[in-house]
Amino acid sequence: KSNTVAKSLGGKLYFGSATDNPELTDTTYKAKLGDNTLFGQITPGNSMKWDATEPQQGVFTFTNGDVIANLSKTNGQLLRGHNCVWYNQLPSWVSSGGFSAAQLTSILQNHTMNVVKHYAGQELHIDAADEDAWDVVNEPFNDDGTVRQFVFSEALNLSYVTTALVAARAADPKAKLYINEYNIDSAGAKSTSMMNLVSSLKAAGTPIDGIGIQGHLIVGQVPSKAALIANYQAFTALGVEIAITELDIRMTLPETPALRAQQQADYTTVISACKAVAGCVGVTIWDYTDKYSWIPGVFSGQGAALPWDDNLAIKPAYDGIIAGFTN
Ligand code: G3I
Repeated sequence: KSNTVAKSLGGKLYFGSATDNPELTDTTYKAKLGDNTLFGQITPGNSMKWDATEPQQGVFTFTNGDVIANLSKTNGQLLRGHNCVWYNQLPSWVSSGGFSAAQLTSILQNHTMNVVKHYAGQELHIDAADEDAWDVVNEPFNDDGTVRQFVFSEALNLSYVTTALVAARAADPKAKLYINEYNIDSAGAKSTSMMNLVSSLKAAGTPIDGIGIQGHLIVGQVPSKAALIANYQAFTALGVEIAITELDIRMTLPETPALRAQQQADYTTVISACKAVAGCVGVTIWDYTDKYSWIPGVFSGQGAALPWDDNLAIKPAYDGIIAGFTN
């Protein structure tokens, strides 16, 4: 039975990890990633993004994405597609193409349709309740809740979200379709904007199944369990499921026993909050080891955000995760 850790401890929940193609040459890493008693789900960190899948207009390349999708099949893990449209990692032909609004709509439809269709039917249903998912739209808002401006929103405002969701549903009627965002863990302007968007999509009959809460958090600054639960419930009250899609909890280096202990407690807080909310379906960490975390490359002097260290040894955060699924 797949994902024994999360399913036995967390009941309905899955527990998964992001991964990326370059690190799969690390055989120790790859073996642990493939242990489906531990990880019941994987997400490609980069290889299904637009710059990877349609680097030139109309030229689709699925080689690296297929490696991850095949890994999920071989190992009996759920697959989360990531992502169809995002302001980042867009190939320059899209971002600087000088296209009209109508052309951009058709470019987005074509991209989403082709990518989602390619992976449709590769779903692996671990049990009847399990469905694979797509982060169709990634990070549509700024932190103040305004619409993030990039090539699609500049020309189409938020109608690009509808365009992508409709195309994704047509391409794979079975996949759960998500909008994925960071800094929407607790109440605030950005969470409110997400709720307003999802409400209006539902009212218009646009296909939307879930809100992905990325969960890129900071040790000692994680919202309280009550605040997380209240916000998670406000999302699920809209009639969608939620998932924690990119959890990591970073610290200012160096790691100390005190920081590790706080991080352990912080992991428990987030995972137990998900477990407490009926519509929260699972938790994905944004890779499982500090060795391959994105954090040090982006936040100078910070890191150690994950439950396995640079040598793939478990840290107290791992026990925090187990406690979260148990409590
Ligand atoms: O592909 C090029 C390669 O050709 C080049 O030699 C190399 C040199 O730097 O860069 C490679 O691109 C890197 C890419 O990852 C693929 O490895 C980029 O520099 C690097 O910036 C990029 O980082 C990714 C980041 O998204 C981009 O914003 C991270 O790996 C990935 O973990 C991260 O994931 C995002 C989620 O998609 C959305 N939510 C936030 C999360 C963290 O930023």
